[in-house]
Amino acid sequence: MRVERIGDATLYLGDCRAVLPTLGGGFGAVVTDPPYGIGEAAGKSRSRSNAVRARDYGDDPWDDAPISAELMATVRAAGRWAVIFGGNYYALPASSCWLVWDKMTTGDFADCELAWTNLPKAVRRIRYLWNGMARAKREPRGDHPTQKPLGVMRWALDHLPGDVTSVIDPFMGSGTTGVACIERKLRFVGIEREERYFDAACRRIAAAVEEAMRSPGLGLSVERPPAAVQPSIFGGDE
Ligand SMILES: C[S@@+](CC[C@H](N)C(=O)[O-])C[C@H]1O[C@@H](n2cnc3c(N)ncnc32)[C@H](O)[C@@H]1O
Repeated sequence: MRVERIGDATLYLGDCRAVLPTLGGGFGAVVTDPPYGIGEAAGKSRSRSNAVRARDYGDDPWDDAPISAELMATVRAAGRWAVIFGGNYYALPASSCWLVWDKMTTGDFADCELAWTNLPKAVRRIRYLWNGMARAKREPRGDHPTQKPLGVMRWALDHLPGDVTSVIDPFMGSGTTGVACIERKLRFVGIEREERYFDAACRRIAAAVEEAMRSPGLGLSVERPPAAVQPSIFGGDE
């Protein structure tokens, strides 16, 4: 298996069903964006009338089926806290805190995306434009057909309790969660089974690490509340 260590990030090229059991859990949080099972990557979106993809990624079957309930349970068990995008496609427990990303658009694509969390707080919303070529802060994209905005992933991380120091994303794609973790000074573990997305994640995370070294003052911009003490795979308490 290929493993890349880049700054505070460790990236595994492989299937998370095989990799997760070898890591032993104990992460501060799992923050992830699993397949929703709606065929977003298999060319379905290209047939939509009012939205144009910046790039054709080819027919890719990874989004044809949601992950199994068993794998979802393993994913959730990896971290004390969980933020799971596309949570509305899965049977997850009742929660007081869904994170709502309002894309400020309407049409064939969903107006909002929902992340299920087990955080003890109320529903939160971010308005962040993401519609084809129209994107908040002209954020670049193009590494993955369902790439998440960095601004949204930063915001999601900022809802984690303040004592979280490590995050795992078992469905890393092009590494947006990892880039946001580097910016927020959180140790990151990512798993992705498609080599082209894994390579994109390595590139993006390496660039984020370089940027963090050039500008060491960058980092947590939001005070996060404390949370429960728990064991860590990194050898200390989270
Ligand atoms: C929704 S995408 C994640 C996109 C990511 N948030 C980004 O910004 O680029 C889900 C990713 O999970 C990957 N994937 C699906 N099943 C997997 C598995 N069993 N193990 C590892 N990766 C998997 C797919 O290849 C896909 O890149």
